Amino acid sequence: MSQFESRDNIEEENRQYKYIELLKDIVGKLKNELGRDITAHVETFGCQMNARDSEKLLGVLLACGFTSIDEEDADITVYNTCSVRDNANQRVYGRIGKLHSYKKVNKDMKIVLCGCMTQEESVIDKICQSYSFVDLIFGTHNLYKFAELLYYMYTGESNDELFVKRGKTIVSRWDSTTTICEKLPTKRKYAYKSGVNIMFGCNNFCTYCIVPYVRGRERSREADEIIEEIKALVNDGCIEIMLLGQNVNSYGKNLDNPITFAELLRRVEEIDGLERIRFMTSHPKDLSDELIEVMKNSKKICRHIHLPLQSGSSRILKAMNRVYNKEEYLDLALKIRREIPDIAITTDIIVGFPGETKEDVDDTIDVIKKVQFDNAFTFIYSIRTGTKAATMPQCDESFVKEQFDRVLQCVQETARDRVKLVEGQTLPALVEEVNEQDESLMTGRLSNNTIVHFKGDKSLIGKIVNVKCKECKGFYYLGEIE
Ligand code: 5AD
Ligand code: SF4
Repeated sequence: MSQFESRDNIEEENRQYKYIELLKDIVGKLKNELGRDITAHVETFGCQMNARDSEKLLGVLLACGFTSIDEEDADITVYNTCSVRDNANQRVYGRIGKLHSYKKVNKDMKIVLCGCMTQEESVIDKICQSYSFVDLIFGTHNLYKFAELLYYMYTGESNDELFVKRGKTIVSRWDSTTTICEKLPTKRKYAYKSGVNIMFGCNNFCTYCIVPYVRGRERSREADEIIEEIKALVNDGCIEIMLLGQNVNSYGKNLDNPITFAELLRRVEEIDGLERIRFMTSHPKDLSDELIEVMKNSKKICRHIHLPLQSGSSRILKAMNRVYNKEEYLDLALKIRREIPDIAITTDIIVGFPGETKEDVDDTIDVIKKVQFDNAFTFIYSIRTGTKAATMPQCDESFVKEQFDRVLQCVQETARDRVKLVEGQTLPALVEEVNEQDESLMTGRLSNNTIVHFKGDKSLIGKIVNVKCKECKGFYYLGEIE
């Protein structure tokens, strides 16, 4: 037993491994019956956290004997959903219909929905009413029960404590959990890099955001467990890890032995064989001088910080419950730029928050110009039922579109200038994949997250090479290995 894990978590992990064994038999029998592989597909919607969760889902499926395929007409297809904006929900609804057409051809096909969207009761109601061909629905808190749920889905047995049956659909939704099971099988998408969850949930309740409702309260993992996991990943060939949390800067505050995020980073830095460290996401209100200092002195932490602004207007920031104002954000971003000049700062911006005026958007544009973001993800505000902002008077749609275009244009201008700064320099790039458009090119990522394409071959994937950034193409470079 690992000295860092609680006995409850280990018992739960062992329990899930038993279900995996039982499922191996079931899948083995299906293979014999059909005389072919039994296939599985996991589709991810949403953020890095969901991408990591999908690796866990696929890990369990492979351990059970399924064969992974890229197509959605598999024997079991899982949609790991996102609900941060309404268009994410709509995309899923649009695509479930397609799954139904596959199921009409392959009657034994299983359709599974999980993730943030299916943590919402109203979504579950809608699916059970209008998409009754879905076999299994579960939320975010019981993802670690996936093997157990699969077992019941395949055997048709009931388990009143774990799920209810609504028509033919198995529904297992929990309000919360304190269990953290991170030792179940995972199948990494990339051999050389991986996400590592350091915390779950969020306590911030920004008034527009559904995340605290669907991901629950903030829970940090023990630092020793995180370090143990990263060491195992490095032994398995990973050279880059991304520490994941909704608000990594408040990591460790609620642990029995509190530890800061900066201290965790110091410990991660010491791991031999690990070459690059990234993290996501930083809330400006918790970003400490200690963290800036650690980043500045680190050889492994990448020169990139994602620091969501959301709005540049102090009035709107207050209504968003972001707990910082325009000046505080500017001070922080400019301090980071001063201390670590080669760092890339990226951000998230919402346009059209209830009550936003042209003057508020002017403030956002002012911040973009002053910080000179290296990139910004700009979103139109989306009403999320159950959040505080959903009850506020909403903006006019055409006004929002106009303002959105203004913000986007400004972001593109500053980003182009920033990306161009390293033109002519030779910098280390982690080679990630073969270029999708041109097979003679490889695609790599600089420490500051900029993409560079250069001549090379597959054998370079997963290696860090020095690349001359020859020609800036707006958001990426064409380069040459030196
Ligand atoms: N509408 C639009 N964008 C949102 N985000 C979160 N909630 C909403 C919403 N209701 C954006 C924020 C956050 C990013 C992940 O998604 O900018 O940082
Ligand atoms: Fe949502 Fe705010 Fe939490 Fe980010 S910090 S997940 S925006 S509530």
